[in-house]
Amino acid sequence: MSEGILLAKVARGTLLPEAERVARLQAALPQIEAALEGEADEVAIQATLACLLWETLPQVNWCGFYRRVAERMLAVGPYQGGMGCLRISFERGVCGACARTETTQLVPDVHAFPGHIACDDATRSELVIPIHVQGSLLGVLDLDCPHPEGFSSAEARILEDLMARTFGRIPAR
Ligand code: SME
Repeated sequence: MSEGILLAKVARGTLLPEAERVARLQAALPQIEAALEGEADEVAIQATLACLLWETLPQVNWCGFYRRVAERMLAVGPYQGGMGCLRISFERGVCGACARTETTQLVPDVHAFPGHIACDDATRSELVIPIHVQGSLLGVLDLDCPHPEGFSSAEARILEDLMARTFGRIPAR
């Protein structure tokens, strides 16, 4: 049976220095890839990533997926953390901006982001990464942090690559 991620325990909400966060993510990657090896079911991948990224990233207060369910609408998928908004249109919030532009949104201060949706008032920074399957948008990975500047561009690049690798093998819809 799986044991989750073998990393030092760090208290939830701790923002480690950037170099330590990147090192922790790098250490977790092979374990995450091993856990998902051969899995091509979308929900199984999302649920497992939500769990393992929650363990890997102690700075997050919310970690999970919004799935594209209509032309310009996202609905919440598997996640860890407090209750998230159920639906987000492409016109709203950081997740909507990510889905609309199909580009990563690294937001160091959500208070400075017009239209940010405050599911949790504690959230101060956010990283949202688009997920593509065979070139079409499947949804987004949403990470929230109660500290400003909770994510770096190095973390964003690593997570973009992880999303491309893990969702790259699921069948086109
Ligand atoms: N803050 C996000 C909404 C999703 S939740 O925080 C879980 C946004 O502005 O898109």
